[in-house]
Amino acid sequence: MLAEIDALEREFVTAIDGSADMAALEEVRISALGRKGRITELLKSLGGMSPDERQNAGAAINGLKQRVGDAVAARREALKSAELDARLASERVDVTLPVRPETEGRIHPVSQVLDELTQIFADMGFTIAEGPDIEDDFHNFTALNIPPEHPARQMHDTFYLPPDAEGNRKVLRTHTSPVQVRTMRTTEPPIRIIVPGRTYRSDSDMTHTPMFHQVEGLVIDRESHMGHLKGVLYDFCKAFFEVEHVKFRFRPSYFPFTEPSAEVDIGCSYEGGQIRIGEGDDWLEILGCGMVNPRVLEMCDVDPSEYQGFAWGMGLDRIAMLKYGPPDLRAFFESDLRWLKHYGFVPMAVPTLAGGLSR
Ligand code: DAH
Repeated sequence: MLAEIDALEREFVTAIDGSADMAALEEVRISALGRKGRITELLKSLGGMSPDERQNAGAAINGLKQRVGDAVAARREALKSAELDARLASERVDVTLPVRPETEGRIHPVSQVLDELTQIFADMGFTIAEGPDIEDDFHNFTALNIPPEHPARQMHDTFYLPPDAEGNRKVLRTHTSPVQVRTMRTTEPPIRIIVPGRTYRSDSDMTHTPMFHQVEGLVIDRESHMGHLKGVLYDFCKAFFEVEHVKFRFRPSYFPFTEPSAEVDIGCSYEGGQIRIGEGDDWLEILGCGMVNPRVLEMCDVDPSEYQGFAWGMGLDRIAMLKYGPPDLRAFFESDLRWLKHYGFVPMAVPTLAGGLSR
């Protein structure tokens, strides 16, 4: 009898310690201590024993019942705490992680600068206008007062498309100025637009690529004059370069589509290979501008005796280089991810006038 009890105890304890989860443990418990469990059956068998036998066997079986019950309780505790540990491990939160996971992608400096310009000019009441990359001769040249034999055509290094049946050759627009023409021909003044977009010229070196970006500005109404032009561009320069003062000058120039025309230079200095914008003894040309030539107004069906206005055009990539420092324009368009990681911008940091442009 005692040997049997020992064997039973070993069997149950092994099964209890080996049960992998609560369900398995419960099965073992029922098979030992349940209503029809083997230890319960043993206890029932006490009834058929002689008083002497019953005394010995009773103590032994009750002892077995107690120890197996304890073993079940101990195993239950162990399984419970293992379960909790596993849950804690799987639901662990690394509180040192950034609030938003850092994205891999970066905003290209051209897109960044375009977003910045949009903020600045939208705040002044400008809207964005766009036009086609493939232009006809009229919009790209003639309506801008650049007639067929005009020498300015040579300066543009134009890409021509093959001639159509009538011998007309479309061009890849050499500047964003044709969108001035398209807007004036379809919109009643007052007009206040900026025109960002791709432009094309057959040229390639450190500061020129065959495809590049420009931003055009156009204001047409009854009274806007050169003073307003200067004010708009001065405020733009301060906002864009994020400085309080900018040394700024209008230098007389020539464009067929403006009269008078000027180029704008801003002050700068070079210190330790770094350029500082806004102050210093050097000048940097950043854009061309002027009062829209009355001949252009006429060709765009705008009455020059009633309306006037100003326009400007600048290289978007060029001002991106000035502000953010990439030294070689060609790298802008090489899709080198290492370059983009270095010069690009975090997507969530959208430039705003209220929150800061470049941050
Ligand atoms: N279209 C000129 C260029 O590509 C830039 C320009 C100069 C645009 C003066 C203008 C302007 O609107 O008034 O070089």
